[in-house]
Amino acid sequence: MLKNRISIKNAQEEKEGNKVVIAGWIKNINLMSKLAFIGVRDASGSMQLVAKKDSYDDFDKIKDLTRESVVVVKGEVVKSKLKAGGNELIIKNLEILSKSETPLPIDVGAGTSNLDTRLDHRFLDTREEKIKSIFKIRSKTAKIIANYFDSNGFFNISTPKLTSMGVESGAELFHVKYFNKDAYLSQSPQIYKQMFVSGGFERVYEIAPVFRAEKSHTSRHLTEFTGVDMEMGFINDENDVMDVVEGMFKDLLTNLKKECKTELELLNTEIKIPKKIPRIPMAELKEMLAKKGKNLKVEDDLDAESEKMIGEYILEKYGEEFVFVTNYPWVVRPFYHMKPENDPNGTRSFDLLWNGVEIATGAQREHRYKILKEQATSKGVDLDAMEAYAEIFRFGCPPHGGIGLGIDRIVQRLLRLDNIREAILLPRDPERLTP
Ligand code: 4AD
Ligand code: MG
Repeated sequence: MLKNRISIKNAQEEKEGNKVVIAGWIKNINLMSKLAFIGVRDASGSMQLVAKKDSYDDFDKIKDLTRESVVVVKGEVVKSKLKAGGNELIIKNLEILSKSETPLPIDVGAGTSNLDTRLDHRFLDTREEKIKSIFKIRSKTAKIIANYFDSNGFFNISTPKLTSMGVESGAELFHVKYFNKDAYLSQSPQIYKQMFVSGGFERVYEIAPVFRAEKSHTSRHLTEFTGVDMEMGFINDENDVMDVVEGMFKDLLTNLKKECKTELELLNTEIKIPKKIPRIPMAELKEMLAKKGKNLKVEDDLDAESEKMIGEYILEKYGEEFVFVTNYPWVVRPFYHMKPENDPNGTRSFDLLWNGVEIATGAQREHRYKILKEQATSKGVDLDAMEAYAEIFRFGCPPHGGIGLGIDRIVQRLLRLDNIREAILLPRDPERLTP
């Protein structure tokens, strides 16, 4: 590490008169004839440097400094006279470690560059504190979720992303040449998570990339996103899965509030921890929608508009931002879902909506081989052609269920970001394959 360097966050807590060394990027330069103010930021925060012509020998070199250059600075701590408070540093020595070229391709921090240009130069964009805060929150989100699963007895598993088949729906698969075979990028770890519940782990989770060849140009679809998938065995029904997910969100939001206080404030985000997430059958919500003039057939899936209307209704009626929409119709779900005993047109499945947008889909799975095979056939899926999957049900498979969430969507909803691309470092969509 750089000799004697301390973080800016720590430098902000040093006593007046102490000498410290900090390093970071130059945020702004305000050079006057006998005085200069230079803003510097590192990963932990930012600080103002002060240079006085009569006490700093290299004062004349300040005019050669450029924004976003990397510097290491030795200075003396003084209390800031600015309203924001904190410390400033009187520069004793300043060394440029890497000089930034000019002009900058984006206006870091000014909020004037458009999203596309910012994404083209994302590494510059993320230097800005608000943007960095989004990714600190995302980083903590992944950690808190992993801790939650870990402390509830789930195995962390890593499953192949190069696969020979999908189970969600054929249209969404990315085709790749795999030597002399055809392969597909994984559209969900569905098969594998069920495999290792059956494989004796009982409870598994994975946080990993998911690929969807969807030509959607929306503010909530990507072609590559980070999925949070879990699967658990020996359940009574899908309510057991919902219980775990509800616990996960309570834990996530409680911990984010504690661990990301500054970042949440900077992003103007108030976290509301759910008390009890309502679980409402889809048919009931469709009746509500019909009363408001939105008519959906029994077999219809929810569209973005209905999800939004449901979000508003739930907030008004229950004071909650989350809702589990349960009992999705069989026609809109893949073959592996379990049907309720007396309802051949329904499934033991649910979506979780947050502020009117789907963030997760889960269900109890059909674990009885004979019924699963019939269900596959009725959906035009040949289970015999999927031998490696089919056999997990033939040699002792407990009743089980699980859920798939998207971290990108979670962060988007949490921070109320207009576009999912703000919640992921380097988005992939039908147009974007770089950087
Ligand atoms: O709803 P999906 O397609 O469900 C599954 O993959 C099932 N195997 C889940 C299960 O365990 N039954 O995807 C799960 C979640 C969605 O709710 C959404 O949050 C996210 O993954 N997601 C996307 N996020 C960004 N861009 C996309 N194109 C997404 N597609 C799904
Ligand atoms: Mg879904």
